[in-house]
Amino acid sequence: MKRISEAVSFIQSQFATTPRFGIILGTGLGALVNEVDIKHTIDYQDIPHFPVSTVESHSGRLIFGTLGAADVVVMQGRFHYYEGYDMKEVTFPVRVMKVLGIEKLFISNAAGSLNPAYGLSDLMVINDHINLQPENPLRGANLDELGPRFPDMSEAYDPIMVGQAMELARESKIPCHQGVYVSVPGPCLETVAEYKYLRVLGADAVGMSTVPENLVARHMDLPCFAISVITDLGVPGKIKKISIEQVIAAAKVAEPRMTLLIKDLIAKQ
Ligand code: HPA
Repeated sequence: MKRISEAVSFIQSQFATTPRFGIILGTGLGALVNEVDIKHTIDYQDIPHFPVSTVESHSGRLIFGTLGAADVVVMQGRFHYYEGYDMKEVTFPVRVMKVLGIEKLFISNAAGSLNPAYGLSDLMVINDHINLQPENPLRGANLDELGPRFPDMSEAYDPIMVGQAMELARESKIPCHQGVYVSVPGPCLETVAEYKYLRVLGADAVGMSTVPENLVARHMDLPCFAISVITDLGVPGKIKKISIEQVIAAAKVAEPRMTLLIKDLIAKQ
């Protein structure tokens, strides 16, 4: 709690702000920032106790500004377990954003499809998840100030926002599914057998993020919306060798649609 308070105090000393919405942008999906009327930015490395992003495709800074009429804080660059951080580090910024005052959290990510109906660069609104990460950020002494020991997970993703996003996608004719996201530790992509196994488990898309952030958000009773961009197909018969460049290229195709959807969704809150 002390470290969270110190990070919050530092941010507030730099810029007086009470953002209503927090946004975390995934691999190849940073362009939403271009829609933000930026008032202030703070590099992660300057914020006490903030981890520093190491993946090249992520730049690490907090952006404060307005998206449409709403005050937002955007994490440009996020932390992944595979980079070597522990889960408390991965999720630290979410707690900081909540204490800063955010009322809802919006997350994007790149993911591989498991559902055969999905195409490259389609969007998938996450309506539930399966957690296969090896560590839970809430393990250890519970921070009672933030939330309960045993957080309820029956509404991991806010059902109202899921419905609103699907409706907005229909109106804007954006190819968009809703489904279950399974989070794996990475950094290896899946073997063919693993893609099949994850499908049998009940997931529609697989990625290496989002669930840790969602867990700390729900612990604090923060409503959460998350959306995947399908960057590769993990469906037997369609599986090809994947490079990070291909993941980013597929994300870039979907990025304008995803940006529009999140912007419209935030305008409805
Ligand atoms: N698997 C896991 N993580 C991913 C994938 C995938 O196929 N694509 C983008 N992130």
